[in-house]
Amino acid sequence: MSPSLLRLLCLTCVVMIVKGSAVSASDSTHVRLSRAKRSTSCAPKYKLTPEHTACKEGRDASVVSAAEKKVIVDKHNEFRAGANPTAGNMMKVRWDDEIAMIAQKWADQCLGLTHDSNRNIPGRLTVGQNIAINTQDWTTAITLWHSEVSQFTYGNEQFNFGKIGHYTQVMWAETTLVGCGMKNCNGKNNHICNYGISGNLQGRIHLPYKQNASCANCPRHCVNSKLCDCNLTCLNGGDLDLNTCTCSCKAPAPLYMAPDCTLNCTGTSDESWCAAQGKCPSQHVWCPHKCGYCPYAAGDYTADTTSSSTTTTTTTSSTTTTTTTTTTTTTTPSSTVDNQNSNSADPNNSAAKDTFSLLATIVALALHRLFVIV
Ligand SMILES: *[C@@H]1O[C@H](CO)[C@@H](O)[C@H](O)[C@H]1NC(C)=O
Ligand SMILES: *[C@@H]1O[C@H](CO)[C@@H](O)[C@H](O)[C@H]1NC(C)=O
Ligand SMILES: *[C@@H]1O[C@H](CO)[C@@H](O)[C@H](O)[C@H]1NC(C)=O
Ligand SMILES: *[C@@H]1O[C@H](CO)[C@@H](O)[C@H](O)[C@H]1NC(C)=O
Repeated sequence: MSPSLLRLLCLTCVVMIVKGSAVSASDSTHVRLSRAKRSTSCAPKYKLTPEHTACKEGRDASVVSAAEKKVIVDKHNEFRAGANPTAGNMMKVRWDDEIAMIAQKWADQCLGLTHDSNRNIPGRLTVGQNIAINTQDWTTAITLWHSEVSQFTYGNEQFNFGKIGHYTQVMWAETTLVGCGMKNCNGKNNHICNYGISGNLQGRIHLPYKQNASCANCPRHCVNSKLCDCNLTCLNGGDLDLNTCTCSCKAPAPLYMAPDCTLNCTGTSDESWCAAQGKCPSQHVWCPHKCGYCPYAAGDYTADTTSSSTTTTTTTSSTTTTTTTTTTTTTTPSSTVDNQNSNSADPNNSAAKDTFSLLATIVALALHRLFVIV
């Protein structure tokens, strides 16, 4: 996307920050602790793509406490269970430490409503993102994102992405993982949640889930009569079969391994068609060896952390000592655009799809700009 569009997006963010009401909270302790040590979260796999958020300066684990994690997960599942019209395939979400670490890194940059450009996890997941600033607590932030439901009509293709993009990510059926990070920046909370797999795929934003009787698409794997739960996240673009709770992977084993399509780089090779391609297809997931993702992308993100990681985990308790007594209606409606991540392109047609995706993203940004300015 063009730099000028990015600047405009930033400008609108600044305007919105200035308009927001003040919420005081302090985590200066965290700042002091984190400045003192080097990043331990930049595993080799993140260096496969430029400027990965995991490699930025910041805390190496989410500051979100166990109690807050529960609030975040439960609030998302509450909203997801309450889909109207009802959802036949809405997955239950769980907490994920790796995407939370990446959200924390980005929150620590204090860049307001700007999204990071590289948060997908090579060899694992695409990652979507919602941001709220000046929000009192997690419940406020998640409720703010969900409140875009008032602008959303299920199945209506005439939508303004800037007005519904947070809602559709919260309600994206195939998202099974959520992980969040928080930082107080100049007196304003910066709440960021990352989502795996990413929602908001182009062409389906108006259909974030399948309209059906609750759990109709997963009758044997339904929890609380509302949410589908296989306790399984299909990695690397694999598709989850809700009848059997099994993943169908982008390539057969041993390259992608059961049950969750974990990438196996050791002693494996790409599918034969990869060799015939002149270059790496833009969707690296298809040809991890040819594209240089192997051997690193199969690695655990904590695998190469140094001994200083033991001090990291003690900097947690994000004590959001909010002193505001105002109601949540005064918080900034921090609508912003979610990055588009598609992991589902046909490799034989990926170039065309990527072009489309980029164009659509620019259109979405332009729409968002109009919305904010008007
Ligand atoms: C709704 O659920 C039924 C099974 O109860 C299934 O046959 C049908 O395909 C589902 N519809 C959609 C749109 O997924
Ligand atoms: C979900 O799966 C993980 C292993 O992938 C297991 O440790 C955990 O206990 C499971 N949770 C439930 C509720 O079955
Ligand atoms: C990865 O694939 C190789 C080659 O088939 C196999 O020998 C090995 O057991 C696999 N690794 C894992 C962790 O299953
Ligand atoms: C790509 O095209 C070739 C030739 O048409 C075909 O053999 C191959 O199966 C296709 N790959 C995929 C993943 O569809």
